[in-house]
Amino acid sequence: METSAEKYIINGPTRIAGSIRVNGAKNLALKVLPACLLVPDAVDITNLPNIEDVKKELVILRELGAAVTADGSRATVNTASIGSDHLNPELAKKFRASIMFVGPLLARTGAASFPHPGGCVIGAGSRPIDIFLDAFEKMGARVELRDQMYTLTAKRLNAINYFFYKISVTATEAVMMTAALAKGTTVLSNCAMEPEIPALADFLNRCGAKISGAGTPTITIEGVEKLHGAHIDIIPDRIETGTFAIMAAALKSELTITHCVPDHIRALLALFDRIGIPYNETADTLTIRKAKHMASHDAITHEYPGFITDLQSPYTVLMTQTEGVSLIHETIYDRRLLFTDTLAQMGANIIMCDPHRVVVMGPTQLQGKTVISPDLRAGIAMVIAGMAAEGTTTIENIYQIERGYEQITERLRAIGADIKKI
Ligand code: EPU
Repeated sequence: METSAEKYIINGPTRIAGSIRVNGAKNLALKVLPACLLVPDAVDITNLPNIEDVKKELVILRELGAAVTADGSRATVNTASIGSDHLNPELAKKFRASIMFVGPLLARTGAASFPHPGGCVIGAGSRPIDIFLDAFEKMGARVELRDQMYTLTAKRLNAINYFFYKISVTATEAVMMTAALAKGTTVLSNCAMEPEIPALADFLNRCGAKISGAGTPTITIEGVEKLHGAHIDIIPDRIETGTFAIMAAALKSELTITHCVPDHIRALLALFDRIGIPYNETADTLTIRKAKHMASHDAITHEYPGFITDLQSPYTVLMTQTEGVSLIHETIYDRRLLFTDTLAQMGANIIMCDPHRVVVMGPTQLQGKTVISPDLRAGIAMVIAGMAAEGTTTIENIYQIERGYEQITERLRAIGADIKKI
């Protein structure tokens, strides 16, 4: 896992106010950039978040021979003259989404070599890639593992009828986009339904792909010979939207979140209704208003459209500020509740029942502490805890937070937070 020497210093307790803009979705951007390998032409991308993992993917594309121009939130990628099928292992090992290059590289060049991808330490061992390998093999790829590098080769990939034994966001996206250039019609069942998946399919369809059903459990992909360039505007990051909504509620503040899609965090808003957190929404803004009284409520993580695992850590911090007892059940990742130990050190009243469940008794006044961010979402949860806590909170290893949240200190200072990076 990559670490950094930089820290955040937060003084609390804070109230926030005003409005904050949501950036483009990390988990769409990280699929669109690899998908450019399927298109031997110029792809124009807007609303691209300027975050660490995106920067790494742009480097990977350049190393593969793509022409890349990036300026703020706009980038143009042209992979007409890619000259390599080899992912730089040092870079690819650092983040999970590097696996997204494999299928497009294989479909485009007939080969792909890559290391096991890294990323946040939130699942047991290193997060598995068995589904990717299984599906690519069934599409006709030969898989070899030598000196910790996988090599996949295939002259032309064939369409498959494939049932995902487990619902996986990245595996759904990887097989869907790879099948766009396979021979025949692929039918994928038990697919993930996250909004980034139809957004990726819409983009590929504008490039000439024939994908239907994305956003439902069954996706059909009619393989085509070749794709052509198109433009994509990255949809708003629903995890940022939910994070800011939870932040406002936990800090008993009023905040307007702009450039977002409230409908993409419906499960969280349904919990807000039960907790007693008032809000107003339009199609692309969400205003969280001050609650008179917040009652704790249980939450169980589920694949989209259920309550997503990525909002579990901020939600758990919220439950330290609401009245009553709540059970938080993390069903997707077995290490995503470990950060609650740190919350307990900050004064939260939390009991861990087992790696997947904690009970939170609230409300409690948190106290500032020096803490380490273990992963992206637990890291931002600690930022919220630090803003709610009395005194100074120092958050170490902020690299893990900046992988997903662009210019977060500046943006939070603009709404009233006392946070700085040193
Ligand atoms: N899984 C397998 N085998 C595979 C692939 C996945 O067993 O080959 C398992 C995973 O270990 C996990 C479950 O399937 O237990 C679901 O994993 P999924 O594949 O959906 O997760 P992911 O693709 O690794 C994406 C997001 C995560 C988000 C999950 C929610 C990206 C780059 N990452 O991860 O985002 O938590 O979906 O399911 O899209 C984040 O943004 O902080 C983040 C971690």
